[in-house]
Amino acid sequence: MRIELTPGGLYVELESETETDLLGRSLANAVTPGTVIGLEGPLGAGKTRLVRAIAEALDVAPSAIASPTFVLIHEYDGRLPIYHFDAYRLKDPDSFDALGAADYFAGDGLCLVEWADRVLARLPEETWLVRLEVSGAAARRATLRGTGPWELIARELAGGRTPDSPSRASP
Ligand SMILES: Nc1ncnc2c1ncn2[C@@H]1O[C@H](COP(=O)(O)OP(=O)(O)OP(=O)(O)O)[C@@H](O)[C@H]1O
Ligand SMILES: [Mg+2]
Repeated sequence: MRIELTPGGLYVELESETETDLLGRSLANAVTPGTVIGLEGPLGAGKTRLVRAIAEALDVAPSAIASPTFVLIHEYDGRLPIYHFDAYRLKDPDSFDALGAADYFAGDGLCLVEWADRVLARLPEETWLVRLEVSGAAARRATLRGTGPWELIARELAGGRTPDSPSRASP
């Protein structure tokens, strides 16, 4: 796993699904009631896979976690309530409002929104944004930006070591 913390965000090279699970666990450890995470990236990038990693780390039964197909919101019962949205099939951002998205965001659960790019203007200002891109058969490049405890997550992923930080002057 290569980790790079920059002023623009946190970049993580996930070399396998196991590493995606580690990222999911670090995110799960950092969320609080009301956190909204927007997931961006093309079809098959691993958005649902990362949702699964986060939800399992929050003690949701693996069998409960769906890949949202026609249902636009799934709810999982974990250490905190998890609302899993998929904006892919939304006709337009107004349909997102019609789902009552704002009420979920204002609530005490964790909201995970796939295809966040389609509803960006409807997400709270303090949304954590995670973009996934395919970089190999089992490799994914994750870019974490927006508000988020990226330094904490970088440190945890690095196992307590200081991650590469080009923003910091070398000694
Ligand atoms: N390191 C990895 N992290 C995440 N997924 C991976 C990784 N390596 C391989 N994969 C595979 O990539 C696929 C990702 O599918 P997934 O459904 O999560 O994508 P998605 O971004 O949700 O797509 P969609 O836009 O269709 O919802 C899965 O089959 C998963 O097993
Ligand atoms: Mg998906």
